[in-house]
Amino acid sequence: MISAEKIIKFLRQKPALNLSQIEKESGLPSRTLHKAFSGSLKLNEKHCQLIEPVLRNYGYADELFSKAKIISIVNHKGGVGKTTTTINLGKALVISGFRVLLVDFDSQGNTSQCCGVHQVDVQVIDALLEKVDLPIIPLDENLFLAPSNIKMAYRELELINSIGNEKRLKNRLQKISEEFDFIIIDCPPALNIFTTNALVASDLCIIPLQPEASALYGVDSLFNRIYEVREESNPSLIVKGILFTMVTENTLVHKQMIDYVKKEYKHIPIFNVLIERATIIQQSQVAQKDIFTYSPKSPVALQYAELAKEFFII
Ligand SMILES: Nc1ncnc2c1ncn2[C@@H]1O[C@H](COP(=O)(O)OP(=O)(O)OP(=O)(O)O)[C@@H](O)[C@H]1O
Ligand SMILES: [Mg+2]
Repeated sequence: MISAEKIIKFLRQKPALNLSQIEKESGLPSRTLHKAFSGSLKLNEKHCQLIEPVLRNYGYADELFSKAKIISIVNHKGGVGKTTTTINLGKALVISGFRVLLVDFDSQGNTSQCCGVHQVDVQVIDALLEKVDLPIIPLDENLFLAPSNIKMAYRELELINSIGNEKRLKNRLQKISEEFDFIIIDCPPALNIFTTNALVASDLCIIPLQPEASALYGVDSLFNRIYEVREESNPSLIVKGILFTMVTENTLVHKQMIDYVKKEYKHIPIFNVLIERATIIQQSQVAQKDIFTYSPKSPVALQYAELAKEFFII
C-alpha cells in the first residue's frame, strides 16, 4: 500500500493538483490533506487506502519514487552561484520533505567547505577510480554530502584514461539512487571530464546565470556540450531551466540582460524566480550554514524556497 510519506511527496511534486477535489473523490473529511500537507496531521492507514486509487488516477506510480532524480547545477563560467544553488536548493527540497544527496564534484571543494566538511578520507573521485563506495556524510536527518577536495584535480588524468570514463559517476550514483529523492551535483567551472560525467549521470540540469554580458559569453558552448551529451550518451537529459542569480533588480542592465536571454534562448525554460545579490549569502557561507538555517526569513531564503516550488511546475 502507498505510504503517507509518498502521498505527501507526490502532492508536493504536483502543485497544480486540487487537494479539496482529491479529498472529495477519496471520501476523506474536508481539510484532511491540507492538514497532512502542513504537517499538523499524520495520514493513517485508512486515509492511505482511500487516497491510493484516486492518486493513481492522477498519475501516481510506485516507480516515481524508486529512484532519485539527478540534477546537475552546471555552468563552466566561474562564480555564477552553482555551489550556492546546490546547497540552498538542496536544503529547500529537504524542508519540503525530500531526502537529498549533494555531490561535490568540483576540486575546489566549496560545497564540502560550506557544509563544514574539511577533512575527507575518501572522496567522490576515489569511488570513481577505485573499488570503494561513494562516501556519504550525513549533514542532517535528510541531507547528505558526497565530498571532494583538491585531490580530485590530481586524479583527473586517471579518470580521462579510465575505461568508461564518462559514465563512472552515473554508474556509482545508480547504485545508491534508491536511497534518495534528489541527488544534486555541483559541477566545476570547466567543460571538462567531470562536467561531462555529471551531465551523463543526470536527468536534469539547471544553469545558474548572472545577467551580465560577460556571463553570457560561452553559454552557447555549454548548450553545445549538453546537446552532444544528449546525442552520444544521455538522450533523456533535460535542461530544467536557466536560473538568474546575483540579480540587482533595479539595475537597468540586469533587466536588459534578462530580457535579452529570454528572447535569445526562447526554447530554454527560464525560472521566474530571480535570486538577488545579497551579502547574507556570503555571511551564511562563512558561518558554514545554508541560508534557511542562517537567515530563514531573508528574501534570498524565500527565493530559494520559491525555486524549489517552481522546480515542480516548469
Ligand atoms: N545571491 C548571491 N548574492 C551574493 N553573493 C553570492 C550570491 N550567490 C553566490 N554568491 C557569492 O558569490 C561567490 C560565488 O558563488 P558560488 O561559489 O556559489 O559560485 P560557483 O558558480 O559555484 O563558483 P565556481 O565556479 O568557482 O565553483 C561566493 O563567494 C558566494 O558567496
Ligand atoms: Mg562552485
